[in-house]
Amino acid sequence: MHNAVRFPDSFLWGAATSAYQIEGSPLADGAGPSIWQRFTHSPGLTANGETGDTACDHYRRWESDIAVMRELGLNAYRFSISWSRVLPNGTGTVNERGLDFYRRLVDGLLAVGIAPNVTLYHWDLPAALDDRGGWLNRDIADWFADYARVMFRALGDRVPMWATLNEPWVVTDGGYLHGVLAPGHRNLYEAPIAAHNLMRAHGTAVQVYRAEAKRAIGLVVNLEPKYAASQRDEDVVATRLADAYMNRQYLDAACLGGYPDEMREIFGDAWPEWPAADMAVIKQPLDFIGVNYYTRNVTEHWPPSLPLRWRGARQPHAIYTETGWEVHAPSLTRILVWVKERYGNPPLYITENGAAFYDPPKSIDGRIDDPLRVHYYREHLKATAEAMRQGVDVRGYYAWSLLDNFEWSLGFSKRFGILHVDYKTQQRTVKASGRFYSDVIGSNGGALD
Ligand code: FCB
Repeated sequence: MHNAVRFPDSFLWGAATSAYQIEGSPLADGAGPSIWQRFTHSPGLTANGETGDTACDHYRRWESDIAVMRELGLNAYRFSISWSRVLPNGTGTVNERGLDFYRRLVDGLLAVGIAPNVTLYHWDLPAALDDRGGWLNRDIADWFADYARVMFRALGDRVPMWATLNEPWVVTDGGYLHGVLAPGHRNLYEAPIAAHNLMRAHGTAVQVYRAEAKRAIGLVVNLEPKYAASQRDEDVVATRLADAYMNRQYLDAACLGGYPDEMREIFGDAWPEWPAADMAVIKQPLDFIGVNYYTRNVTEHWPPSLPLRWRGARQPHAIYTETGWEVHAPSLTRILVWVKERYGNPPLYITENGAAFYDPPKSIDGRIDDPLRVHYYREHLKATAEAMRQGVDVRGYYAWSLLDNFEWSLGFSKRFGILHVDYKTQQRTVKASGRFYSDVIGSNGGALD
């Protein structure tokens, strides 16, 4: 039987970006440096030494970028605030000129009927706070809450949806355990502390939100179903640990008030006993959970892969993206159903989903055909609809990303945009995937049939 895919009229159709990846002008108008400013300006840490100094120049081109979103028919846009634009030292005096940028952006979006979805922390910690220990300092929960209060007071009446953190797992794993993202630490003993303080900051900011504003606030996590590569004991155990580490660590803390038992198995004596009072702060009622989904992981025990001793096993017949991620849409359905069952059917948004592929040069008539990305979106939007059919309360979807952008330590080499960006001229061109997404939006899913 043919099942036509239709989404509810209230469904949010968005695209997502983050401040450091697109804005450029990181020190303009009184902004302070972030840890990404420092990381990218430290020789040897990013591909080809690339930085976010210019990126997509969105800081100056935001108006025309909104115009393109409108043309595509988006009714939602997820972006993040650069903390050090608003508070150059991380705490203390507000830099009104930095805040004005976000005031204008929010007003510009609302004026054309696009709902802003604002993330407070998408990885660009003020460098001044890193100097005071960053995520390792317990005081950061209060620093973050003070910053959140500034933002809620400035924009709380106009922004319908807030997220505290983007992907705390990546912040910790990349920034404090493996050292591949800012601030570039590789320390087994720091990682659990950074993770816990991220969650304390999350909980404290949600408490502030309840006192200051009354729309919706949630947490954005990245999830990846883990499948055992074999039924050998060591692979099965590695899979359980990998699942706890990535999928359950943060959501169990935020939604259930405790960390999985596996955390001690993974970190040994580097995993402290946490005070019950901290767990009570971390567990706050949330209005939604944001799920970032890119891939699944077939996990195998692999002792050389230190410090965690597991790795993803390559699948011989799969399609892989340019970031080496297997394309596997059924796992999106699976992880959404898993969230529903484990955490009591919370409202969900897919806050990021997308793929980096090599984009061919423009054709003579100026088109950019990216069939693999079109295929990726088609399959993942269908997988979203399938989860909804199974009762998951998915209320919106954000493509990652609106624009090709600065992909962290991988620089500009990985293109995720539904719009192509020519970094020499800053010209934007809608890719075939952007047109396709626009058709899906315009037909409420009809174009997926
Ligand atoms: C996610 C990040 C986002 C981008 C995509 C590809 O983990 O949230 O900033 O880098 O991956």
